[in-house]
Amino acid sequence: MSEGMGDGTSESSIVPGRPIERLAFSATVFGEVDQGVLLVTIDNPPVNAAATSVRAGLLAAIGMTIAAPAILAIVIAGTGKSFVGGADIREFDAPPAPPLLPDVVAEIEACSKPVVAAINGVALGGGLELALACHARIAAPKAKLGLPEVKLGVVPGAGGTQRLPRLTGIVAAIDLIGSGRIVDAGAAQTFGIVDRLSAGDLVDEARELALALVGSPLRRTGGLSVPPEPVPAVEAAEAKVLARSRGQSALAAAVRLVRAAAETPLADALAEERRTFLALRASPEAAALRYVFFAERAAGKVDGLDDVAALPVSTVGIVGLGLMGAGIAVAALEAGFTVVGVESTAPAAEAGRIRIAGLIDRAVKSGRLSAADGAVRLARLTTTTELVGLADADIVIEAVFDDLEVKTQLFQSLQGVVRPNAVLATNTSYLDPDGIAAAVDRPEQVVGLHFFSPANVMRLAEVVRCAKTSPTVLATALSVARAMGKLPIVCGVTEGFIGNRVFSAYRRAGEFLVEDGASPYDVDAAIEAFGLAMGPFAVSDLAGLEIAWARRKRQAATRDPAERYVDFADRLCEAGRFGQKVGRGWYAYVDGKRQPDPEVDQVVAAARAAKGIVPRAVAAEEIVERLVAAMAEEGEKLLAAGIAARSSDIDLVMINGYGFPAHKGGPMFIAEQTRKAARPT
Ligand code: 3HC
Repeated sequence: MSEGMGDGTSESSIVPGRPIERLAFSATVFGEVDQGVLLVTIDNPPVNAAATSVRAGLLAAIGMTIAAPAILAIVIAGTGKSFVGGADIREFDAPPAPPLLPDVVAEIEACSKPVVAAINGVALGGGLELALACHARIAAPKAKLGLPEVKLGVVPGAGGTQRLPRLTGIVAAIDLIGSGRIVDAGAAQTFGIVDRLSAGDLVDEARELALALVGSPLRRTGGLSVPPEPVPAVEAAEAKVLARSRGQSALAAAVRLVRAAAETPLADALAEERRTFLALRASPEAAALRYVFFAERAAGKVDGLDDVAALPVSTVGIVGLGLMGAGIAVAALEAGFTVVGVESTAPAAEAGRIRIAGLIDRAVKSGRLSAADGAVRLARLTTTTELVGLADADIVIEAVFDDLEVKTQLFQSLQGVVRPNAVLATNTSYLDPDGIAAAVDRPEQVVGLHFFSPANVMRLAEVVRCAKTSPTVLATALSVARAMGKLPIVCGVTEGFIGNRVFSAYRRAGEFLVEDGASPYDVDAAIEAFGLAMGPFAVSDLAGLEIAWARRKRQAATRDPAERYVDFADRLCEAGRFGQKVGRGWYAYVDGKRQPDPEVDQVVAAARAAKGIVPRAVAAEEIVERLVAAMAEEGEKLLAAGIAARSSDIDLVMINGYGFPAHKGGPMFIAEQTRKAARPT
């Protein structure tokens, strides 16, 4: 390999039309000249993030191109699965180091010779911004493109908010940048983001394209004008993004910057974009979202599974096609599995089939799925009343009534039917899956797979490692859950697993706050303002109060009398206030709308009086602090007991299963920040 630019590569070594040795522009950026085109490859595993050495290498490559008469054009490509996976997120905790990405991007756009992006794989964030500054973009059909910065609590910081709308229009740019969604190459071409898709060898085609551009005026994205669009359409796109913001600053900032593209000179708008990016990058929101990003990657690394392969799965059996089972079936069909659904009676099986078809139909009607794809999914579903229909299943997931007797009997019947190595997964929320496993001959085949309702929508799946679950079975359950688009979090056996145990502690803390003097409505309002979609009392009403009541009654005999116990939820249940489905719970429901109910205030007041508690005013800040602290304390207990492997797993459960705002990082993250702040420096 010859030495890099900075290390002495001389332009005189370049002879037109003849490939030369590989140049090293930096530790991660390499080049070779063929037919007068410098092919620049970025090789910075795992995702070719635009780290300092990548930025420096690209600048060196541009510099050499401008200086070398023998180089007519440049093609930039990535190695492996990525073009460039974005700025290097690991660098975000330190001040930005030169050369800065906006400067690299500006050099590319200003280059006097054609620069073509050969987008071989993911081009995200700063990676897409690099490509947007090139004079043409050609993408492999499998490439994926997007500006997902808002998911990290920032806005694009290297021209994305200004260059994207010049190609797509403001409405599409608000949608893409405001949602952070990633599109495939075909959609990117429809949006005008890429000029063409490669039909054969991407780099060869990019080289031809680059040579064809030599000598003609270059199309610089920053020099294009923003296509005019009707104001109502822009406002509608903006409103859609802001409705999802839940108090996050990055979304509103992204919309504001994109709108500025149509009104502000490029240089001023780019400067404002950079200022906003840097301010957001240093914000607590962005720190929390970065933590969540790395937490998700860490959750995939499960103790004891390093060299364990998952069993191949093509057929998923689902027993019980109620709301939960149907949702699981839809997710399994979406993942490409063949699904066999079993119900106890023919009408129930037919109702299950109709429920599943209805969910698929809803996706078609909303435009999320084509009618043809919907039909393909439905064709992979069969429903039956016979367990023997599960003979070919690689995994069976039961979603029947949450009763130990019912579930153990089912698993016992299954073992005579399914293949010996079929995985038996229980979707129980509260029962002891070890108890279920103990009832079968091969307990090592049993695992918990706890989905959240609606299972076709909710991203979380708790994967419960039972005492005897084999590593292969655990790996298979994880791989099935991932294929279904879920974020699987491994946990040990405890009543309620991670999520419901933390949720119960949070709900109890809510009741303590009410006993102290807050109203249930104050509690819900405070935590909703903090960012949860619904407070604990509204959630209880939605789920139904009788489930927790039944559990409290079960636990009554063994409850520690010294433990604080609030009994007004029992009083509400005794009065038949079981929640939203009966129109009365913590709230009254009038025409489907929840509203405070003075009767509840009276029940609470009577319960306080019976304990001699004089109610005091409780500020919203205290409410949030105590609720979050209660979650974190329960999380600590789960860690101590080895139920959760790491505290970030607990945060992921609360974010993805219970609506905890990701931009706050999760209760464990907040507790750690609070501890750090309290530590003497
Ligand atoms: N910076 C640093 N590390 C990154 C990274 C990034 N941008 N993207 C991924 N990684 C790391 C992951 O942490 C993981 O590391 P590990 O193996 O040590 O756990 C490894 O790369 C592989 O990541 P995944 O497991 O996620 O691999 P996948 O193949 O499933 O997905 C991906 C690859 C689609 C690129 C995905 O990692 C991803 O979405 N990354 C983030 C992309 C992103 O948000 N980019 C924007 C950054 S902000 C920005 O660019 C600002 C700019 O506007 C100035």
